[in-house]
Amino acid sequence: MGSVWPYGLCCDHRATPLGTDASAPLLSWRLSGADPVACLVEVDGLWSSGRLDDPAAIGVRYAGPPLRPRTRYTWQVTLWAADGTSSTARSWFETGQGDWTAAWIAADPDAVEHVDPPTEGDLALRDHGLAACPQLRRAFETRSPVAAARLYVSAKGLYEARINGHRAGDAELAPGWTDYRRRIQYQTYDVTSCLTEGENVLAVTLADGWWSGFAGFDPRRPGYHYGTFPELIAELHLTYADGSAEIVATGDGWRAGRGHVRYADLLKGECHDLRAATPGWRLPGFDDTSWSPAVVTGHDHAPLVPSLDEPVRAVRDLAPAAVTRTGPGTHLVDFGQNLAGRVRLAVPALEPGSRVTIRHAETLDAEGGLDTANLRTADATDVLISAGPATVFEPGFTYHGFRYAEITGVEVLGEVKAVVLHSDTPQAGTFACSDPELDQLQRNIEWGQRGNFVSVPTDCPQRDERLGWLADAQVFLPTACLNADVAAFFAKWLRDVRDAQTPQGGFPNVAPRLSGVAEEGAPGWADAGVLIPWHLYRVYGDPRFLDVDSMAAWVDFVRRHNPDLIWRARTGPHYADWLSPGPATPRELLATAFFHRSADLTARAAQVHGRTAEAERMRALADDIRAAFIKTFASAPGRLTGDTQTGYLLALAFGLLPPEWIVPAARRLAELVGEHGPQTGFLGVNLLCPVLSEHGHADLAHALLNRTAPPSWRYQVRRGATTVWERWDGAGAPSMNSFNHYAFGSVGEWLYGGVAGIAQAPDSVAYRELVIRPLPGDLTWARATYESVRGRIAVSWERGGGDFHLAVTVPPGASATVHLPDGQTHQVPSGDHTFRTTEETTA
Ligand code: BGC
Repeated sequence: MGSVWPYGLCCDHRATPLGTDASAPLLSWRLSGADPVACLVEVDGLWSSGRLDDPAAIGVRYAGPPLRPRTRYTWQVTLWAADGTSSTARSWFETGQGDWTAAWIAADPDAVEHVDPPTEGDLALRDHGLAACPQLRRAFETRSPVAAARLYVSAKGLYEARINGHRAGDAELAPGWTDYRRRIQYQTYDVTSCLTEGENVLAVTLADGWWSGFAGFDPRRPGYHYGTFPELIAELHLTYADGSAEIVATGDGWRAGRGHVRYADLLKGECHDLRAATPGWRLPGFDDTSWSPAVVTGHDHAPLVPSLDEPVRAVRDLAPAAVTRTGPGTHLVDFGQNLAGRVRLAVPALEPGSRVTIRHAETLDAEGGLDTANLRTADATDVLISAGPATVFEPGFTYHGFRYAEITGVEVLGEVKAVVLHSDTPQAGTFACSDPELDQLQRNIEWGQRGNFVSVPTDCPQRDERLGWLADAQVFLPTACLNADVAAFFAKWLRDVRDAQTPQGGFPNVAPRLSGVAEEGAPGWADAGVLIPWHLYRVYGDPRFLDVDSMAAWVDFVRRHNPDLIWRARTGPHYADWLSPGPATPRELLATAFFHRSADLTARAAQVHGRTAEAERMRALADDIRAAFIKTFASAPGRLTGDTQTGYLLALAFGLLPPEWIVPAARRLAELVGEHGPQTGFLGVNLLCPVLSEHGHADLAHALLNRTAPPSWRYQVRRGATTVWERWDGAGAPSMNSFNHYAFGSVGEWLYGGVAGIAQAPDSVAYRELVIRPLPGDLTWARATYESVRGRIAVSWERGGGDFHLAVTVPPGASATVHLPDGQTHQVPSGDHTFRTTEETTA
């Protein structure tokens, strides 16, 4: 008995969002204290949920009168505990723009000066004619004190908006990447404090970004995937103290010029020529009469949608671990950490026209210089051309994947920092144990997640790729959800995935869709369109992740083209078990296993939404696929065609085998793993340790973690890795050898779930039923915490002198089955529990 307190209030998975979708937001909270028995949500005196006697509730969808646009709503949740006590917590959300009146504007594209990037010296920039970044400004008068001001802004391209020189918000690479033909996100900023009485200026710099810059690896096009020059749309809504309102919008009356950003490109890098700077252009009083009128390019508001997730932000700075002078005016900076971001450099006074160049790389070559071979055509080079005075150089519209930077052009290096950029997903989990190498592995996984969650979940942040590959995201998702709260990030990206679904139901290989990449989805890649929503639903409990029609359309697409239910046709580029170091898993077996998984999960999703007929149809289909799978790929009871690790992993994890084959199949898997070490590629790696331990082979899962020879995780750690590599051994053609690819980091789920022991029961949703099963191996202690959607979960165990001691925190409203290493099982309710055994039988 005791009280229950709500905390961590969210609206649509974000704390106090500005500019939400106004329809029916999910208002949620986490729990601490005792079990709740009832809840009540009230929105601004506008709507009350009424008291809901639901002990499991951790969120309620708003169901009141339509919400007005551009309005802040405060809301509160009250919880009751069994002892009759109640407690209340408050929060707010603000709805986004309603109808737009602004026009899209641009600097006159016909007057655009295309810059040939500098090619002298050691710059490897190709002559691709990048355009100088447009500067757009509009001066306006305010009549009386401004009580509130909101800026609703977006771009085809990237923008940085300022009011009177003050930055609007802290989003980087905004508005983020979507398929701009379908959907363009806008951001909302509270800019009240930026405004003054009298003359004010709204000033925006634009860059190409994903819209019209280089993206992916399509060699046929010089950028220009979605458009050819950047455009801006913005509405500044002013509310005066007297209650009157005014809008300053893009359209006629804007002025356009060019300044010091000679070009900016996500892959190529950025060049600032400070001799061309236009000082004061973002401040009132600047004379823009020599500038041209901005051109109105259109009024299409249809694709504009409010941002669903937190933006990319500059989340932290890293100081160098080492700086070495490698030649006259040249320094090599080692930041000690592979990351995604950019360098900020204090540049001393130099001769006007002097060039300072920053090149980036993940690794060094044999001579100790930057090894840029794996960047392919991504030049990843930033250039400052000095106007004379000292300055601070930091690019604004690019990012690079790097650990090392080579800086040329300054004799004495000033302060230099690596600025870490990533989508700002709140940290959710921590893991630590008695083995420092496993701790390093966990850090590498976390850094891999940071460096690859940049607006979309990417494969890698360094080479000319950085695409939202679906399989990479699918296998890493369970780990990602434990490290950070990725609900909003994936809610946004799932829309990209669905935007890329064909009318026939086909999911793609990458989202947002990008020309140059095979459009038809491969097994395990396209299936992410089903697997990811299902996992998000289980973790966050929000049924809106489950778009049953979209999921069923995918399953029906595969079925239509494969009437005998063996998935052979329409497999897209069939990447098979990508980068597997072992014998190839038969492609049809692998594909059919995913076909079954997609049908099975679609059946469950339909059930969640109460669509019984659809659930039954999909269940029957899944059963038929399973029968076809067994008939076609079982070479003997418990043996599968190909006899590969990934084959057995998929069959066991996806429930494809008859009950009597499970033990022999798991035994065969264990034999193969014991003989060869891990032989999985991307599509089996996430299952290795979980499936082995699930079937009684936790010792082997630990042996894999302990293995030091390649292929292994520890091999990378011992070779000094600070992120997870694309290939198990980090050796391969440079064109396909990224050192920051997270798929093999999907073992992170087992660090939490196996080593520390935090997992969710198979049929549980939103961590209502936990399974706490620490598998100590030869470790002496481990602990993990996880800020679940329901509340805090913690596990900490240690052993010594024949004792095993375990402490567990189960959040309110949840229960846990605790399995001790000696075989004892305890069923426990919410709260803190400790267990002590003397048994030493572990793993
Ligand atoms: C990417 C992968 C991706 C794959 C498709 C690669 O170039 O880097 O991570 O999933 O292509 O096989």
